[in-house]
Amino acid sequence: MGKITIPDILKRKTEGKNISMLTAYDHLFARIVDEASIDIVLVGDSLGTVVQGHATTIPVTMDEMIYHTRMVSRGVTHALVVGDMPFLSYQISVEEGIRNAGRFLKEGGAAAVKMEGGANVIDKVKAMISSGIPVMGHVGLLPQSVHQMGGYKVQGKDEVSAERIFNDALMLEDAGVFALVMEGIPEGLAKKITGTLAIPTIGIGAGSHCDGQVLVLYDLLGLLPQPMPKFVKQYAPLRDQCIEAIKRFKEDVEHGRFPGKEESYH
Ligand code: KIV
Repeated sequence: MGKITIPDILKRKTEGKNISMLTAYDHLFARIVDEASIDIVLVGDSLGTVVQGHATTIPVTMDEMIYHTRMVSRGVTHALVVGDMPFLSYQISVEEGIRNAGRFLKEGGAAAVKMEGGANVIDKVKAMISSGIPVMGHVGLLPQSVHQMGGYKVQGKDEVSAERIFNDALMLEDAGVFALVMEGIPEGLAKKITGTLAIPTIGIGAGSHCDGQVLVLYDLLGLLPQPMPKFVKQYAPLRDQCIEAIKRFKEDVEHGRFPGKEESYH
């Protein structure tokens, strides 16, 4: 199977073939996700919460994102790797935005970057794209703006904010993004945006009328403690299975059952 490219992702919309995207943060899981033929691997700044244990994604730095993106890129042979631009890596100036986005490609081995926002970041998006850096947009619930939103709340529920998100989506397409993540918005709004844009939309908590879906890998695998947000579907109970396996190891050690003959050199 060849490497998935940006034109392949764009073509999916006209072919009507849904896009699968998952996060990965290290080489081990990147290989597993790639082997399962997922289309896009996102090195999400969600690593700030699920890997680093922060309460939000805000503390994540550029150097940390590059470190994780390198590990992921080394494990991927098929999927398109997208690096997530962390808070304050693109907001300050166009120049800083291009330099940081470029690091994901030059040092991280990613093929594209993702950034949160619409009208407020459009000058940075345009400058990156004209520098040859493919950009994936992200509208709706923006985790880096958690304090401004007053929490992780569904966005676009009232007419004014729905119109703002819709206009942001149009502006981002116009600026040249190759795909758009829509997070935490009502399914009707997601359907309208998907039906209007020529580029693919990828939803998370945005209902079924998107051109693709993304989840945080550890949510899907059931590695994180409950409760999960409503939009998550847990496909395996790995956290419970890990705890059970580790408890069995502990008991075996305590009762002298491990190592046995099979695990010993003779
Ligand atoms: O950081 C992340 O993992 C994300 C996805 C959930 C879209 O932005």
